[in-house]
Order: sequence, then C-alpha cells, then structure tokens
Amino acid sequence: SRIVVLISGSGSNLQAIIDHCQSGDINGEIVNVISNKADAFGLVRAEQAGINTHVLSHKDFDSREAYDEQLAKLIDSCNPDLVVLAGFMRILTPDLVQKFKGKMLNIHPSLLPKYQGLNTHQRAIDANDAYHGASVHFVTEELDGGPVIVQAKVAILPEDTAETLAKRVHEQEHVIYPLVVKWFSEHRLTMEADYAVFDKQPL
Ligand code: GRF
Repeated sequence: SRIVVLISGSGSNLQAIIDHCQSGDINGEIVNVISNKADAFGLVRAEQAGINTHVLSHKDFDSREAYDEQLAKLIDSCNPDLVVLAGFMRILTPDLVQKFKGKMLNIHPSLLPKYQGLNTHQRAIDANDAYHGASVHFVTEELDGGPVIVQAKVAILPEDTAETLAKRVHEQEHVIYPLVVKWFSEHRLTMEADYAVFDKQPL
C-alpha cells in the first residue's frame, strides 16, 4: 500500500515504520513524508531512507482551513491508501478528516479515552495511575477520540518522572504502530461507521 506520513518532530515512530517497510514486514511503501516544520528531525530520517519529503509550513497560511485545504491537495497528489499521523502536532479541520476517513491513523501517548490532548505522561503520574501507555486509533472529527485499534500498557513506577515514563511509552509505540500499519496494509483492518474492525471482528 501507498503510505503518507505526517510529522512535526523527531519522527521516531516514522523510523519504526520505515524499518518495518524495509524489512518487508509491512507490505507497503512510504511515498511521502510531510512536515509542518522545516527543522523536524524526521525529515532527515526520511531522506536517509530515500523517501520523498515535503515541508508545508502552517506559518505560510492565514487560517487553519487554508492550510488544511493545501495539505489535503498535497496528500491527495500522493494517491495514498493510508495516511499516518506520527507526531503531527496540529488539530485537523473536519473537512480534512472527512476526506481521509477510514484511512487515517494516529498514535496518542495515553490509554485512550484517558488523557486526550497534551502532557499525558505527567497527568497519568499526577493521577497516581498504576498504568499508562499508548493507543493507535482511526482519526475522526473528535480530537484523540476515534476508534482505538491497539493499546500498549506500561506500568508506572514509583520513581517515574514524565521523562522516564515517556521513554518507556515511546518504546511501546514503536512496537504497536508498525503492527497496525502492517495489518492495514494487509486489508485486515477497516473502520465501519464509528468502530474499528479487525479480521471481520468489531473491536
Ligand atoms: C509520540 O509520543 C506520539 O504518541 C505523539 O507524538 C509523539 C511523536 O514522537 N503523537 P516521534 O516524533 O514519533 O518520535
């Protein structure tokens, strides 16, 4: 399948997906990596892997609508089967989400529906939760609210800081995101109405 990845930063999840494409584990090809930030390290990772990159800076646009319209055109021009949000730190307009419904994935660093939004690691520690983690989900109009496909659970240790916890969650992200992309590329995963279906079973 043709995969487009959207990033804003380090791109370690992008790297995990690149690695699994290169090993043949994912039956797919990343055809473009798009970043809203020119200095995102993920762009370097993509270039090192010989993948096309594109910077579309939100600063060049007057409104979110104008930016997303251009972004949608750019994504469309890649003719993707799957759009992967991997640390793309922007809220998407309903129009954009609608356009790629059922073929857009996101990873969020919490056990959704807990802790949508930012600072998830600190919030989980502050709440004295026993577990934290990450979730891969289909993207819908509701921010961090689409149907969850896979979650990785990480125990919170007494000595954890947001940084140490984030590191362990990240390691799990690099396991579950390539796995979900693999399943999607094998047509085992779809979104029906508002729930995810895996091997014909509603999740
Ligand atoms: C990850 O923590 C992901 O859950 C969140 O943004 C971060 C991206 O990290 N959506 P990276 O750029 O993939 O290293």
